[in-house]
Amino acid sequence: MAIEIPRQASADCYFESLWLECPTRIGRGTTRDAYEIPDHQDKVLKVSNCPVNFSNWMEILVHNQFKDSNDLANIFSWSWSGRFVVMERLKPLSQGDLTLHTFPPYLTDRKSDNYGRDASGKIKALDYAALNIAAPRDDFL
Ligand SMILES: Nc1ncnc2c1ncn2[C@@H]1O[C@H](COP(=O)(O)OP(=O)(O)OP(=O)(O)O)[C@@H](O)[C@H]1O
Ligand SMILES: [Mg+2]
Repeated sequence: MAIEIPRQASADCYFESLWLECPTRIGRGTTRDAYEIPDHQDKVLKVSNCPVNFSNWMEILVHNQFKDSNDLANIFSWSWSGRFVVMERLKPLSQGDLTLHTFPPYLTDRKSDNYGRDASGKIKALDYAALNIAAPRDDFL
């Protein structure tokens, strides 16, 4: 039977069980690790490695606010505490891919590791936890 993705905001124990099925880590940042999910090659499991899960919560909120822009990797689910997030898996970029990219004005961490391509080839952010919350309202339009 295919591995199931727990529903959003369900208890962390269900995501811990999912994590046990995900032995392959595909990335490591300062606050999260990302794992391949067997049976779901289009998704990653992001696991916070710090106690407050701040970066995952920022992404859940930012995704909720800006998902219609199609600039952000989709979020499919998250755990009750925010320790776990299931996100659309993006492919790594090649050198120079961001040269002509128009960054969403509210995102401040613009290093290439934080961006990737979706299945259609569109460049999207995969780490959107760092925000310019002081931007004037016009910058968001
Ligand atoms: N949606 C995704 N698709 C593919 N790879 C991903 C995805 N999310 C994270 N990764 C991989 O995991 C790495 C770490 O994830 P992420 O950048 O979200 O963590 P972080 O701790 O916030 O990073 P930073 O050190 O930049 O603050 C990324 O650089 C990337 O290689
Ligand atoms: Mg990052």
